[in-house]
Amino acid sequence: MLRGDMTSDSIQNQVEALREQIRYHERKYFIDDQPEISDQEYDRLMKELECLEAAHPECIMPDSPTQRVGGETILGTSAPHRGQMLSLDNTYSPDELYDFDQRVRKALPDLPLTYVTELKIDGLGVALLYEDGKLVRGATRGDGEYGEDVTANLRTIRTIPLRLTPIQPMPTVLEVRGEVFIPRNQLDVVNRQRIAEDQAPFANARNAAAGSVRLLDSAITASRPLDIFIYTLGYVEGIEITKHTEALTLLANLGFKMNPYTEAHSSIEDVIAYCRQWTANRETLPYDTDGIVVKVDSLQQQERLGTTAKSPRWAIACKFPARQVTTQIEAIEVQVGRTGVLTPVAILSPIQLAGATITHATLHNEQELIRKDVRVGDMVVLERSGDVIPKITAVWTEQRKGTEKIFRLPDQCPVCKTPVQRSEDKAAIRCVNVACPAQLKRRIEHFASRNALNIDGLGPALVNQLVETELIRDVADLYGLKQADLVNLERMGEKSAENLMNAIEASRRISVAKVLFGMGILHVGANIAELLINHFSSIDALATASLEDIESIHGIGPQIAESIVHFFSQPRVQAFLKRLKAAGLQWATESSELPETTASIFAGHTFVLTGSLSTMTRSEASEKIKERGGRVSSSVSRKTDFVIAGDLAGSKYDRAIQLGISILTEQEFTKKLSR
Ligand code: IVH
Repeated sequence: MLRGDMTSDSIQNQVEALREQIRYHERKYFIDDQPEISDQEYDRLMKELECLEAAHPECIMPDSPTQRVGGETILGTSAPHRGQMLSLDNTYSPDELYDFDQRVRKALPDLPLTYVTELKIDGLGVALLYEDGKLVRGATRGDGEYGEDVTANLRTIRTIPLRLTPIQPMPTVLEVRGEVFIPRNQLDVVNRQRIAEDQAPFANARNAAAGSVRLLDSAITASRPLDIFIYTLGYVEGIEITKHTEALTLLANLGFKMNPYTEAHSSIEDVIAYCRQWTANRETLPYDTDGIVVKVDSLQQQERLGTTAKSPRWAIACKFPARQVTTQIEAIEVQVGRTGVLTPVAILSPIQLAGATITHATLHNEQELIRKDVRVGDMVVLERSGDVIPKITAVWTEQRKGTEKIFRLPDQCPVCKTPVQRSEDKAAIRCVNVACPAQLKRRIEHFASRNALNIDGLGPALVNQLVETELIRDVADLYGLKQADLVNLERMGEKSAENLMNAIEASRRISVAKVLFGMGILHVGANIAELLINHFSSIDALATASLEDIESIHGIGPQIAESIVHFFSQPRVQAFLKRLKAAGLQWATESSELPETTASIFAGHTFVLTGSLSTMTRSEASEKIKERGGRVSSSVSRKTDFVIAGDLAGSKYDRAIQLGISILTEQEFTKKLSR
């Protein structure tokens, strides 16, 4: 008997020691990001524990590292919070923080004040209750007083400790609050799986996190890449705490995962600087954030400030401008592109998104329309991230009323009524009438665009008039225009007519590669045009080149080569080229011409982009700088040569001013690009 007890005691000790070892390595791996052993080594320890527990089931404890999955979540089971889980008041501009600061200082006259700033993680708020160091309950926020018990699901999150790291003194009862989230790059992974299982994809990472925590089967929750940051201590017994920052340190010591970007500040100006910095840089984080939380550090001061019915007076959220909004599709229109491709475009109920009013969004092509199942009348999620072009990323199918209408592309060109042709893969539907007025208008717009012939003032409205009044029937007609023709057009004064004539004149000096790009040959973008001219030196040489000649150029594939040969083989094109050449456009490179990189400001210089550009995305701008021999960096330092400031330029702009670095407006930048 005595011997038997001894054995089970020693097994118990062995099992507990093994668990301790595993918990230590889990902390190192999941919380500290500093693993000390290999994954195989960890798996081996886990296997050993599983075997021991299988042989001695009486040793199994709910806080064993093997016990993450299992147990039932019964949604709707209510769990009372230890202290109310309040929400936060929101502000939408850093300036409103001055008002917050004033209110706080008025209530706490003459007291030294420290603010703490934290990232506001965009996930699902939860409360975790620990008794004697063990996780006993996990709950959602609910109405703030009672949440939903989701313990079994939260236990599957590896960064939530089932047992706390022992410290002295050890709190006996502890409630902590944090935000469960899914890293941004994992959203796709989860959604692909959902689509494969015939379920609607999640609209964003927050919905994915919330949906995964509120599941009935904890095994499914366990398969989702959930993570957590703890942001506050809700309740504690057995330990004295006087500051929020002290609580955060305590929580880190107990083994919780804390966000590393929390900072303390002694002035509201510093708080505002922190907000500006993260407004500009939040895209660099691997998880979604929707703002900054500002908190008064001293708990005594928090107490004196008190709370309103819903939210504390000692904290405030400074929300980032929305990157994602919901709006309605009022109609779907069809646009005819310059190569005749029909593109469905959603006409939206106008909505503000990241500082701009959005009324249109491309739906790309019919397949995309079918894949997303977008219908007229649908409520959709509109998103604008690093890219400036807004995209429809999801459809709220659950909000449908039954009146939404399915849309398909027409069988005829909506402009010239020619029957359309579908490409083999069905992705592209094309109007094949080269004389289609819609195509002609797009071709002229393209020809006049900045990266082509850069004819300032020749935008869509004027192109429309020129084509409708039949002043021009193809691009070459531009060079026969007279000032007298122009002044008769609506909204065209003497001065603008003269400016346009000058811009057309100036386009005769634009480089031959840009002329080639301006012709709008299918698949021939600005870079390909440059490659072709570097190789052939003139448009005439390219026009008579064989398929093999063209394909032999590094970087040019068969599809591009075929498109080029087809373009130049058309008699209509040959006549058109003759007229363009006769108009005096650049037709060949001059051997004396210096390569662009040595003549431009780009070569050898470092650029930083800030804010959004209206004529290109930031990545396109980076490409253009690099093509010209420049470097692009993400942060402003003394090594920066130029900062290119777009709309809503943020802290990088301020920093450039501080350091006395040259700032280029978007206009100045595009001008330098076209030199
Ligand atoms: S403090 C009384 N800090 O934002 C203080 N909340 O309305 C209450 N959140 O649903 C919250 N990150 O789940 C705080 N660093 C952070 C946060 C944070 C995200 C969430 C929280 C709550 C909402 C506040």
